[in-house]
Amino acid sequence: MRTPIMAANWKMHKTVPETMAFLDTFMPLVRDLPQDREIIIAPPFTSLETVSRALLGRKNISVGAQNMHFEEQGAFTGEISPLMLSDLRVKWVILGHSERRHVFGEEDELIAKKITSALAHDIKPIFCIGETLEEREAGKTLDVLQSQLAAGLGNVSDERMADVVIAYEPVWAIGTGKTATPAQAQEAHEAVRAWVSQHFNSGIAEQIRILYGGSVKPGNVEELMALEDVDGALVGGAALDPESFAEIATCSI
Ligand code: PGA
Repeated sequence: MRTPIMAANWKMHKTVPETMAFLDTFMPLVRDLPQDREIIIAPPFTSLETVSRALLGRKNISVGAQNMHFEEQGAFTGEISPLMLSDLRVKWVILGHSERRHVFGEEDELIAKKITSALAHDIKPIFCIGETLEEREAGKTLDVLQSQLAAGLGNVSDERMADVVIAYEPVWAIGTGKTATPAQAQEAHEAVRAWVSQHFNSGIAEQIRILYGGSVKPGNVEELMALEDVDGALVGGAALDPESFAEIATCSI
């Protein structure tokens, strides 16, 4: 069975004091988290150390970054390297998020380099893919997902693939309050798993975790988690409030 992952993507929210206030409320609420569940908190870079410290000794709650450069060091003003993340005990990194693709112009080739680099540094990528509304309405959803998968994972070996988590996030559902219907989510997740089974060892497709993201909240998480190929959630807005994210993290599956 695949261990579900509930991941918080805070985006550009929370100062260090706000991060501490979140943790003060959140940590007691997840004290009795079921062992067969993983929680990831991805704060802005400036709060990584604070979250990382608060999670010391917690086996199934870990810290993630929201982005990373592929080089270890160099003249890359404003960037953060995998070594810098490892230094802060960062175990995960969100790569290819739609805001990175659409607001900051990150392209498939750059995202692929970041995925390869993260894996080489033992940081597990949460690789985001998803179609725009225009692409969905043109009937191109599955083509878009397959082409993003091929571009992002083309250089990943079977062995390394087991450490990759894929997040399906329809762009039109991110931060809009619109969620994919269960049928739309299941169709996309099933297609992603089928693609993985065609391109990697057969066992990997069964093992790999595919998260859904896009307006997940306490009120819809259980319905999404009930879908066969949904193995967790990547949560933005609803993960900023400690009570709301704790409800998502501990939802019944
Ligand atoms: P949302 O964001 O939950 O606010 O829609 C999800 C994401 O962008 O990862």
